[in-house]
Parts: sequence; C-alpha cells; structure tokens
Amino acid sequence: MPPVGYDPAMTARPADPSETGALARLWYDGWQDAHAAILPPVLARAHTRASFAERMAAALADVRVIGPPGTPLGFAMLKGDELYQFYVASEARGAGIAAALMADAEVQLSARGIETAWLACAIGNARAARFYEKSGWHLARTMVNRLDTADGPFDLEIWRYEKHLARR
Ligand SMILES: CC(C)(COP(=O)(O)OP(=O)(O)OC[C@H]1O[C@@H](n2cnc3c(N)ncnc32)[C@H](O)[C@@H]1OP(=O)(O)O)[C@@H](O)C(=O)NCCC(=O)NCCS
Repeated sequence: MPPVGYDPAMTARPADPSETGALARLWYDGWQDAHAAILPPVLARAHTRASFAERMAAALADVRVIGPPGTPLGFAMLKGDELYQFYVASEARGAGIAAALMADAEVQLSARGIETAWLACAIGNARAARFYEKSGWHLARTMVNRLDTADGPFDLEIWRYEKHLARR
C-alpha cells in the first residue's frame, strides 16, 4: 500500500537515461523562456540544444524529476551544495510541481549533509525569484557566477539565494 498522501504525479524520482533527450529539451525551452530576454544575446547563442543535451547526459545522476517516465514535467539538478538547475515545463507551471520538486531537492541536499544550500537566479527572473522566496529561500547577495556554455565559461552577475536546510 502506498503511504497516505502519496501522489505519483507530484513525487520526485531519479532521472532515467531514456529520458535524457526530453529533459534536455525541457531545459533548453525553459532556459530560452526565462533568460533569452534578460541576458546578453551572446549567452542565448552559446546555450545550444546540443550543449544542454551534453550537460544533461553528464549530470543525469544528480537529476530529480517529476512527471511520467519519458515525459518529464520538471527537474532539479544538484551540484555540491548548489541547487544548480531548476525547471518546470511551461504547460505545467503554476500547478504545484515546482513546490514538490523543491521539497524533494531540499531533502536530497540535506541528506548529503548540506546545511546551507544556495542557487543562482538570473537578475530580473522575477517569476523564479518569487517562487524561491515563497519557498523560504532568501536573497543573500549578488555575485559573479561562472556559467558553462557551448563557447566555454561566461561570468555573469546573478542573485544568490540561500536556504538553511532542516537536519535529516
Ligand atoms: C521558476 C519555476 C520553476 C517556478 O515554477 P512555477 O510553477 O512557475 O512556480 P509557481 O507558479 O508556484 O510560483 C511562481 C510565482 O511567481 C508569480 N509570477 C508569475 N509570473 C511572474 C512575474 N512575471 N513576475 C513576478 N512573479 C510572477 C506567480 O504568481 C507565483 O507566485 P504566487 O504563488 O505568489 O502567485 C518555473 O516558472 C520555471 O521553470 N521557469 C522557467 C525556468 C526558470 O526560470 N528556472 C529557474 C532558473 S533560476
């Protein structure tokens, strides 16, 4: 019997290698959607479909997903003490998937022994910032963050959000 309150549609799981392409497409589309209008055009050009596919394949073990296998609706990618990438498909936003994915990501980070996690949010990404703040993350400061792109590293000033995680 599944535990009371268990909802598979809202439960994060590990990524499956067979959905690497679908996750990379979700990431590419979400990146363009959230960032193309607010970041330098050179960055949009350097964030190619191929670069997302390569990076997703390389990081798959650190990716948590919500959505049916093969049809991901959102994912979180962890890297050390950083919530490194966080995306929900446009058609699935505003439905609580982001909150469920975030709760799971925080559990995963805490289980790795992280006490204070951080994430980088593009300056001007107001929807993401609102979501992080209502999820209990606070804007710690702006900082220069080094992004991975198809053309190599790119230094960008970002909003650094942090959250002290509950001990597990
Ligand atoms: C960031 C993201 C994961 C959040 O998921 P979501 O399902 O949109 O989150 P929610 O709908 O629960 O919360 C978004 C909040 O922003 C608000 N919002 C929507 N558009 C907004 C805007 N243009 N400016 C400010 N706030 C906005 C919503 O009303 C909601 O706040 P509320 O619950 O107080 O009404 C999702 O929007 C996404 O994937 N965006 C594209 C990729 C991205 O930006 N990822 C983060 C990279 S740092």
